Amino acid sequence: MPSTALGERFLQDGYLVLPGFKGADEIASLRQRAAEIVDAFDPSGSVSVFTTKEQARTADRYFLGSADKIRCFFEEEAFARDGSLKQDKALSINKIGHALHDLDPLFDRFSRGNALQALACSIGLEQAVLWQSMYIFKQPGIGGEVGWHQDATFFDTQPRTVTTFWFALEEANLGNGCLWVQPGGHHSPLRERFVRTGDTVAMEKLDATAWPDANSAIPLEVAAGTLVVFHGLLPHYSAPNRSARSRHAYTLHATDARAHYAASNWLQRDGSLALRGFV
Ligand code: FE2
Repeated sequence: MPSTALGERFLQDGYLVLPGFKGADEIASLRQRAAEIVDAFDPSGSVSVFTTKEQARTADRYFLGSADKIRCFFEEEAFARDGSLKQDKALSINKIGHALHDLDPLFDRFSRGNALQALACSIGLEQAVLWQSMYIFKQPGIGGEVGWHQDATFFDTQPRTVTTFWFALEEANLGNGCLWVQPGGHHSPLRERFVRTGDTVAMEKLDATAWPDANSAIPLEVAAGTLVVFHGLLPHYSAPNRSARSRHAYTLHATDARAHYAASNWLQRDGSLALRGFV
């Protein structure tokens, strides 16, 4: 059970904003490493032109196969009609996922440590295991909207324990598509579940509760280095980035090892890459 003032606040609001959690040097190294990964990424395999159906299957395979790998994913608006990139590759990537924290030593260090362990314990996540990491670019001009959702949609456990650790690597504000959250919204039901059957995935509707609107949601404008932690049921959203500035962020998704992790979750580990916690 949460044991501190932070824990109480997390229970009440469904999220915490912790400025200055990461220092400038650590952030600079992470950004540099992400740039190197993108630089080494050969997109030729993933931008080939297929029939629509075949392209969807290829995209699914690429996505599902990324659970224990480091793969780059393009922004939807990155391509011109003829399939070519509209701008430099480095400005076309939406995110890198999903096992950076286990495969890359620098990301491993950034993702773990006593401070994160203590924080996780203080919000009731005493036996955290880290399933997923994502480096999110939110590119200038074409950074896509991420519609209202709850992260428990993608990480179903009983009891529900998935918790998101969202690190601002640059200032995030209304101009470049910062996070929006609904304070207290983690008390609302899970609306959708993302279910994997073999090599296909589909969104399943669970509950018709409306998503928040401008009356109940607030933007989280934060400085680089801020850590935002939020509950798996907290509705959140981010607008497209139409500004000239990127909005890099890094996220981790953790569950408690004591909870049952659904076999229908898209992200599964086959044992070749062990699940680890914050220490
Ligand atoms: Fe999310």
